[in-house]
Amino acid sequence: MTTNATSIKAEKENKQNDLIVVRMEHLNKSFGNNHVLQDINLVMNKGENLVILGKSGTGKSVLIKSIVGLVEIDEGKLFILGQNISQLNDNELIEIRKKIGFLFQSAALYDSMTVRENLEFPLRRQLHTIPKDEMNSLVKEALLNVGLAETIDLWPSELSGGMRKRLGLARTLILKPEIMLYDEPTTGLDPITSKEISHLILEVQKKYNTSSIIITHDIACAKLIANRIIVLKDGICAAEGSYGDLKDSADAWTRSFFE
Ligand SMILES: Nc1ncnc2c1ncn2[C@@H]1O[C@H](COP(=O)(O)OP(=O)(O)OP(=O)(O)O)[C@@H](O)[C@H]1O
Ligand SMILES: [Mg+2]
Repeated sequence: MTTNATSIKAEKENKQNDLIVVRMEHLNKSFGNNHVLQDINLVMNKGENLVILGKSGTGKSVLIKSIVGLVEIDEGKLFILGQNISQLNDNELIEIRKKIGFLFQSAALYDSMTVRENLEFPLRRQLHTIPKDEMNSLVKEALLNVGLAETIDLWPSELSGGMRKRLGLARTLILKPEIMLYDEPTTGLDPITSKEISHLILEVQKKYNTSSIIITHDIACAKLIANRIIVLKDGICAAEGSYGDLKDSADAWTRSFFE
């Protein structure tokens, strides 16, 4: 190959890599004899909503916790925004994790802080010095985004389950993460509130071009938001495709998620 052809090829590969936000290669994670993740290979593309399905206990939460370092992987490679995580120092890890938002399976709000204080907290922690006016307008924008403008002076205990989820979402989104990880965002909510949350996830994708992984058991939510779906089974990604592909899969086990 000529030098020119080599550099064109390299440039093309770089462009493709820029479009990949998370890449997992042969990821393994065990807890004692419990081999939860056995050989996970996965890519998440820029701007996509990637839905992860799988039976309870298959390692969905462990998988996304590994992305933010809440779970340390045993083997394999993990690339985030083009960087090999195992080669980063502590400061570089902190910087990259600032670009990732995590909506926990439980909303994990600070119950001793008002709604406003719950939103100010991540801003203060991440931005250290931020003018009061700016903080105020970011808090109001975040609440408007999730339809909670009226609740600014309430306590989390005064909110319904769906409102708490939305506040959890606002608190994560206020830092405008490039990558969002949603762990069961609609679990425990009625179908109408679940649909509202699903629409919010779609809005976040459109408004900020966020790349998201969404773990869910809610097939209506998956149908609405997924650009691509991966099904976990026995520690590997057992099936992958669009909602339509998997719903009509030749494999009965894969189809069973959609019945
Ligand atoms: N910190 C931990 N220490 C030991 N075992 C763990 C830990 N975290 C998870 N596990 C185990 O890993 C397995 C996968 O757990 P995980 O929470 O990822 O499941 P899940 O697919 O998210 O399930 P669900 O749909 O119920 O949320 C389970 O067997 C769980 O007991
Ligand atoms: Mg889980």
